[in-house]
Amino acid sequence: MGQKRIYIETFGCQMNVADSERAATSLRAQGYELTESSESADVVIFNTCSVREKAEQKVFHRIKDIKKQNSEKFPIIGIMGCVAQLMGPALLESDHSLKMVIGTGATDRIPRLLKHIADTNEQIIDLHGREESDIWDASTTDRHSKYIGFVPIIEGCNKFCTYCIVPYSRGRERSRIALDVICEGQNLLANGYKEIQLIGQNVNSYRPHSDIGLQGFAGATAFSKLLRAISSTGLPRIKFTTSFPRDFHDDIVSAIEENENLCNWIHLPVQSGNNRILRAMRRGYKAEEYIKCVETIKNSRRRISLTSDIIVGFPGETEKEFEDTMKLIEQCQFDGLYIFKYSERRGTPAAKLNDTVTSDEKTRRFLSLEKLQMSIQNKLYNSYVGSTVSVLVEGLSARSSEDLTGHTTCNKVVNFKGNSNLIGKIVNVCISEAKAHSLYGRLI
Ligand code: 5AD
Ligand code: SF4
Repeated sequence: MGQKRIYIETFGCQMNVADSERAATSLRAQGYELTESSESADVVIFNTCSVREKAEQKVFHRIKDIKKQNSEKFPIIGIMGCVAQLMGPALLESDHSLKMVIGTGATDRIPRLLKHIADTNEQIIDLHGREESDIWDASTTDRHSKYIGFVPIIEGCNKFCTYCIVPYSRGRERSRIALDVICEGQNLLANGYKEIQLIGQNVNSYRPHSDIGLQGFAGATAFSKLLRAISSTGLPRIKFTTSFPRDFHDDIVSAIEENENLCNWIHLPVQSGNNRILRAMRRGYKAEEYIKCVETIKNSRRRISLTSDIIVGFPGETEKEFEDTMKLIEQCQFDGLYIFKYSERRGTPAAKLNDTVTSDEKTRRFLSLEKLQMSIQNKLYNSYVGSTVSVLVEGLSARSSEDLTGHTTCNKVVNFKGNSNLIGKIVNVCISEAKAHSLYGRLI
C-alpha cells in the first residue's frame, strides 16, 4: 500500500490515550507513517469519548473542519473509541464520507480495515472484541510522553452504575497478565521513563486469569500484589487510577506505606454523599463506608493526597440530598474534585428516570460545590508553602516560557523557574505560593 500518512486525534481519558498509542504502534509496524497534523494526512482517525458529552460533539465539529481544510485531497476518515462502539452503523449512515468505524476492541485491526478500504473503497465497520493475540503495550516511539507511560492493566467495567456508559462502550472487565505489566514497566524504565500510571476503569478489580508474575508478592488482593510487584522493578514513580470505593482494600494503603516509589495519590470517586442517590446510582456502598476508606487513607503514615468525582443533579436529587454531598465534601477535605452535572447517556438505566433537576438548578449546585471545594483546596494547597516537594519535570509551562512544569508524587501541578535541560528529570522544589489548582516554587 506504500507509505500512507496517518493522523490520530484523541479525546477523553487516559485509556483512550493508551489506545491511540497502541493503534499507532500496530500501524507503524505495518509500514504506515504517523503525522502530527491532519492537513498532510491520507488517513485521519478520531479516537472518541462518550463519558463527557462535549467530547462527542467536538468530534463531529472536527470532521467538519477536516472537510473544509482538505478540499482538494480528501483523507480517509475513521472514528474509533466509545462513540464508534456505541453508534456503530448509524455513524456510517449519517455521514457517507466516513469510511471506518472502529470499535473499542478493534484497535489492533485498523491496518486490516485500511487494506479493505484500499481494495474496495467501501465503508467498513468492526465492533468485535479484542483477540487474545492483541498487544497491550505501545512502543516508546508512539507514547504521549517520553517520561510518563500509561500502562493499562484492566479494561472494561462490570459495575453498571446506572448513569454510566462505560460497561456498554468498553464491555466486560478483562485483566492483563501481571508478567506483561511488569515487563512493560521494566522496558519503560530501561528507556528512561520516570513514571508509569497503571490505568483501568476500576483498577481495584484487577483479576488476571493466572498469578504468573505475582507469585512471591504479598498482598490481600491481586491488585495490591501487582502494586508490590511493579514497585520491585525500581521505577522511580508509580501511580494508578481509577479506584472504586467498594473494591478498595486497606492493603493498598499498606503497599503505599511500604514502598516509596508507589506515589502518594489516590483517586477515589464518590459521586454523591447521599445514600438514596448512591443506591439509585447502584454504586454498592453507603456514604459511611466511603468515609471509612477516606479515614484509612488520611490516617496513613504517609500524607496521601485524595481526589474524587461528584455528579450533581442525578434524576430526583433533592436539595436536602445535595446538602448531604456538600457535607461529605466538607468532611473528606479532598485535594481535588472533578464535578459533573448529570447528563443522560442513552441506553443506561438512569436514562429511563425523569431528569427532574433543571439545568439552572444543576448549575447552581455545581457552583456551590465548586465554591466549597475551592475554599478547602485553598487551605490544603497553602499548607504546602514552605515545604519541599519532588517534581517530575514534564515541560515548559503553558503560561510562561520561563517556567517549567511538572507533577508532585501527590499529583499536584508545580511550576517553577528553571532551565529546559531539567525536562525529564526529578527535582526538588521548595513551594513559595499556592494558586487555585497549582503550586509555585523555587528549584533547590
Ligand atoms: N453524567 C455526568 N457525569 C458522568 N460521569 C460518568 N457518567 C456521567 C453522566 N452520565 C462522571 C463520573 C465519573 C467521571 C469519569 O465522569 O463522575 O466518575
Ligand atoms: Fe462507570 Fe461505575 Fe464502571 Fe466507573 S465503576 S466506569 S462509573 S460503571
